Amino acid sequence: MFRLVSLALLLTLAWPLSAQEPPVRGLFPLAIEIDGRPLAQLDSDIVVVPVFGTEDPLTTALTGAAPELAAAVNAVRAQQALAGDLAMAPIYAPRGLATARLLLVQAGAETAMTPEHLRRLAGAVLRAVRTQDVRSVALVARGPVTGAAAIRAITEGALLARFDPGLHKTGDRTPRLATLRIAGAGAASPAATDAIAVGRTYADAQNFARSIVQEPSNYMTPEHMAQHARRIARESGLEVEIFDEAQLAAMGMGGIIAVGQGAAAPPRLIVLRYRAPQASATTLALAGKGVTFDTGGISLKPGAGMYQMKGDMAGGAAVLGAMEIIGRTRPAVNVIGLVPAVMNMPSGTAQRPGDVWTGLSGRTVEVMSTDAEGRMILSDALTYAVQQKATHLVDVATLTGSIVTALGDVHSGLFSNNDALVDAFTRSAGRTGERFWRMPIDDAYAGTIRGSLLADLNETGGLGGASVGAKFLEAFAEGTPWIHLDIAGTSWPSSNGPHMANGPSGVATRTLAELAHTLGAAPR
Ligand code: BES
Ligand code: ZN
Ligand code: MN
Repeated sequence: MFRLVSLALLLTLAWPLSAQEPPVRGLFPLAIEIDGRPLAQLDSDIVVVPVFGTEDPLTTALTGAAPELAAAVNAVRAQQALAGDLAMAPIYAPRGLATARLLLVQAGAETAMTPEHLRRLAGAVLRAVRTQDVRSVALVARGPVTGAAAIRAITEGALLARFDPGLHKTGDRTPRLATLRIAGAGAASPAATDAIAVGRTYADAQNFARSIVQEPSNYMTPEHMAQHARRIARESGLEVEIFDEAQLAAMGMGGIIAVGQGAAAPPRLIVLRYRAPQASATTLALAGKGVTFDTGGISLKPGAGMYQMKGDMAGGAAVLGAMEIIGRTRPAVNVIGLVPAVMNMPSGTAQRPGDVWTGLSGRTVEVMSTDAEGRMILSDALTYAVQQKATHLVDVATLTGSIVTALGDVHSGLFSNNDALVDAFTRSAGRTGERFWRMPIDDAYAGTIRGSLLADLNETGGLGGASVGAKFLEAFAEGTPWIHLDIAGTSWPSSNGPHMANGPSGVATRTLAELAHTLGAAPR
């Protein structure tokens, strides 16, 4: 009897514990330090020195060490080994330096240097040496990006380069590189330590987003996303509320229920709340599409490439990551993070084309294609945000194939009803280096969605699918300043560039968090 009881006790204790802690795979520790010593004394395995354009580093970055290094550096320049963006030229056993390898890297025109260039440079170097027996790298910060901005950019670039998308490969994949030292940025100081911590928070959150987008749907269910949200709330000081299927139905979230009803894994609505330290009149709501797999439902997608639809929760991942940053960096505005999480599956209980549902807003919607599920779940999330008195709304979603046709995997589509919010968002994206392109949502795009014979709205139809989808969502913002980001092309680009592994990008994570800081800093 006692055994049975203790077994039951063990099961109830152990099961929720293991179930509440899905691992975040693909992350590896990296120590990042400030190294205030002069160039000649830097004793990391590699010392990286950025070179701007055609400058002669002997007369700039390498003055002092110049006489001994002249022959080697002149050979690099004579062979044009530094021609081309991020070209790298090693000088082994450089005379007069403590390091075993001096690595010159083409950083482009000095006047064009931005934090994003520095991020890419740091990342590209770390990616280039990742399979080598290199334990420590020192990167010399030089050029127009200085101080905390340089330290933060280098930290972010290095950690983004660190993410390993081989989540389910067996064997130890821990890289040998253990320490990055940032040189040329002065001595260690509280401000420098803080810049490293902030950079780490931003990059870790983006890497977290990449990891759960990469995580396949047999692991990443709506409830698994909710479990990550609970952990993030606990670790970052946020409030969390998870609504289950019965609660969603009772609340009237007909869009989420309709999409979720075909799947064995039930839907969730994740709500994370951050309260500003001082009372704020601004409440930013971030809503991310969390479709943990999109088969298309009864309007089934073609089989080829369907596996990529495990990434259809990339908007939700970006919101969870952004909320983690927001909890840790504490902007001056309130923020609500919303992730409607569902699996879009065909089955005997799945919704059908032609069905009509009533969402939280009270509007009725006729389903044209069960594959237009993103707008169905986001509409309820937007209504909920409006009911919660959000003053600014941003939704982010892998919403349409149409945006991929229009913008490829370079820019995310941006749609908005409010120029001031777009301005704040664009300034935020300027700092994070992420690319967004504003697209039209004239009323002319609303023709088909207003054309249902029996319901208030049609869910799809017409040409310009990305704009039509945005137009549908706009109705649920009810005039509140709102931005819709379509990341269908950018959340999983064909390449992430030389500074990040291919696979999910974690796009929008950092910019959404940055927006909260921008809104908090603006005079109100
Ligand atoms: N998740 C897809 C959009 C998508 C396409 C994401 C390609 C990533 C890559 C979305 O749910 C979808 O199926 N959209 C349809 C909408 C249509 C039925 C109105 C589309 O774009 O075809
Ligand atoms: Zn989808
Ligand atoms: Mn779909």
